[in-house]
Amino acid sequence: MERTLSIIKPDAVSKGVMGKIIDRFEREGLKIVAMKMVKLTKEEAKAFYSVHRDKPFFDSLTDFMSSGPVVVMVLEGEKAIERNREIMGATNPKDAAPGTLRHQFATDVEKNAVHGSDAPETAQREIAFFFSEQELVRLT
Ligand code: TYD
Repeated sequence: MERTLSIIKPDAVSKGVMGKIIDRFEREGLKIVAMKMVKLTKEEAKAFYSVHRDKPFFDSLTDFMSSGPVVVMVLEGEKAIERNREIMGATNPKDAAPGTLRHQFATDVEKNAVHGSDAPETAQREIAFFFSEQELVRLT
């Protein structure tokens, strides 16, 4: 079993599609083992995306991520990291395959509806960024 961090980004929350996104994860068999709604401060968004701090899009991205509420979730399942990335689709919705969340719900490469951890080490860091061990539900 593997765990990954998923975020429903401010664009998707304000569009009113968080339920549709959660429904998709449930239908795909990914189990939600933690979930909450938060509004990140600019500083928190910068800390979360610190790996991108030297990128030209960093300031705009962190403004966007702190612009409204997000839903953060921990998804659990076999190959959860890879499966979530497949369900999300490519970063830029122009490149995202039909049927993926970003193809369905993203506006552009920045306002792209969802985040998902990209590797086991990142997942561990990102889950710990938002949740304590006690907040993760044990399914068995
Ligand atoms: P990245 O880690 O490359 O993509 P992913 O979210 O698919 O793992 O980028 C992180 C986020 O940064 C991405 O979801 C949206 C934002 N971003 C931009 O705003 N502009 C860009 O050109 C890129 C590549 C990313």
